[in-house]
Amino acid sequence: MAREAILLTRQDIAANIDITAAVPAIEEALGAFEKGEDYLPPKAILEIPVGEPGTAYAACISGYTKTTNLMSMKIGHERTHNQARGLPTTEAWVMVFEPETGELLMICDGTLPTMLRTAAAAAVGAGQLARDDAHTLAVIGAGQLGRQCLRAVNTVRRFETIYLHDAVAEFAEAVAGDLAAELAVPIEVADAETAACNADVIVTATNSREPIIMSDWVRPGTHLSCMGTDLADKIECEMALLPRCRLFADKVEHALLRGEVSQAVAAGILDENCYLGSLGQVINGDLAGRSSNDDITVFDGVGIGIQDTTIGKTIYDQAQAKELGIRLAFS
Ligand SMILES: NC(=O)c1ccc[n+]([C@@H]2O[C@H](COP(=O)([O-])OP(=O)(O)OC[C@H]3O[C@@H](n4cnc5c(N)ncnc54)[C@H](O)[C@@H]3O)[C@@H](O)[C@H]2O)c1
Repeated sequence: MAREAILLTRQDIAANIDITAAVPAIEEALGAFEKGEDYLPPKAILEIPVGEPGTAYAACISGYTKTTNLMSMKIGHERTHNQARGLPTTEAWVMVFEPETGELLMICDGTLPTMLRTAAAAAVGAGQLARDDAHTLAVIGAGQLGRQCLRAVNTVRRFETIYLHDAVAEFAEAVAGDLAAELAVPIEVADAETAACNADVIVTATNSREPIIMSDWVRPGTHLSCMGTDLADKIECEMALLPRCRLFADKVEHALLRGEVSQAVAAGILDENCYLGSLGQVINGDLAGRSSNDDITVFDGVGIGIQDTTIGKTIYDQAQAKELGIRLAFS
């Protein structure tokens, strides 16, 4: 008899799923991925012909991991114009499957899990590559992703000050107000230059199509986790910054196409060998991350399907154990 599938909403996940283990789970997944036993097909990016060109995309992302013994498939919609409608600009759904039988195990909201797994990857990048004595964090972007990055990245170093910047200062003020007590670190709303100039760790989490972080603002020794740029027309760092950096990606082939370096590669400022390798190789000890306290390091995380499978496993296991959601026998 076919298994019942669980249907789980964003509210179910927010209220009931403990995601404190997301950072170590994503770190383990990125390392395990380098062993070559997982399956990661290329992302399909669809541009949907609604609204202005460049404002409506759907990304179809899949992945199987040996560690979870699960396969996931996600459709992640991006609608830039949703901000003006008071709706999330990212709207995603995840399906989780039993890989041997193909049975559907869960359909759940994918928006919150996407932010959680991406923030966890930003944190893993900072944990692996930032200086041990890093004590100031700048988060650029106070949207859904920026909010979760504050939470996750704050777990990997003892930050004394956090700077938060958003093009809309009210968004940053609201997030700072919500999270200051939870994080127990002062969050200062700042302009981009103040935030970047004072930071040991910079996380970018915007959907900007213009550079926000100028090369001159970034001090030797800084680490950047660049998470917002996941399409070739997005960019958050001035191109001149990138040749100064030791560059790492989640998956080099994907990041070259649509990560933070993609426009610099297209412009001939960097070549296709610009990445030293993947963060997973650093995690496994197969590649040196930071080589000195003066290096500027970059983790360019465009997002890969094994992250969704990994967070999907966390959610599915807890939903089973806590009997959450609606059960449906589809077949
Ligand atoms: N790498 C990944 O795996 C991954 C995963 C999820 C989302 N993303 C990307 O992260 C980005 C943010 O996603 P989100 O859901 O948080 O979006 P969001 O709309 O909730 O937040 C984006 C924020 O960026 C701010 N912003 C835009 N341009 C800016 C600029 N030039 N300077 C300062 N702030 C600016 C906006 O005001 C907004 O508050 C998107 O590009 C999304 O596609 C990447």
